Amino acid sequence: MDINEKIRKRYDRASSLYDILEQPMEIMTLKRWRTEVMKELQGDVLEIGVGTGKNIQYYPDNINVTAIDFSEKMLEKAREKSDIYNKKVKLIHMDAQNIGFPDNSFDCVFTTCVFCSVPDPVKGLKEIKRVCKGDGKIIMIEHERSENRAIGLLMDIFNPITLNLYGANINRRTVDNIKKAGFTKIDVTNLKSDILKKIVIHNFKN
Ligand SMILES: C[S@@+](CC[C@H](N)C(=O)[O-])C[C@H]1O[C@@H](n2cnc3c(N)ncnc32)[C@H](O)[C@@H]1O
Repeated sequence: MDINEKIRKRYDRASSLYDILEQPMEIMTLKRWRTEVMKELQGDVLEIGVGTGKNIQYYPDNINVTAIDFSEKMLEKAREKSDIYNKKVKLIHMDAQNIGFPDNSFDCVFTTCVFCSVPDPVKGLKEIKRVCKGDGKIIMIEHERSENRAIGLLMDIFNPITLNLYGANINRRTVDNIKKAGFTKIDVTNLKSDILKKIVIHNFKN
């Protein structure tokens, strides 16, 4: 089975328990940052890797959101949330590594905890660069491998477990991957030690 299929199936499998398993992280830190990111979105917005739709309840009403995921089962949960919270969002089954929209389609593209999982992250990031307008904004809340030697080593040791359970790599170096995708002006803010980061990229086609 190819790696895309493997990771997609792991998310299909995890979809029913995902929100329960993630609840501690949500309460401790993520909820706050989700709401912060929403304040920065405007116009036509693409959410990559919408998952079970944890951001949906925070979508402002004055933006047009299209949200994609390659796990059909995660998307089913997101559809339930869009009904519960009465939010208009186009939920589409689509691979972030091969986004089916023309160049410069969106004013903003955002992700929360996605690029730990995308099988070829650099390919996915290049796709984001293509579909986001050059004067638009890319906002990401992502976790990555700590630069602390002991913590980084622990993340390497535990990575096979999270990868097999969920499809998430806790030891990815996402900021390096963003650079590999050709972005140069990147604002990075540490949100929780040096692991959880807010990454903002704009004016990247100049
Ligand atoms: C850790 S979950 C995060 C979900 C959500 N963003 C959140 O904050 O709760 C990662 C999500 O990214 C999706 N994903 C991973 N690789 C993808 C790809 N290549 N294309 C589309 N979705 C992908 C997974 O299916 C999963 O739903």
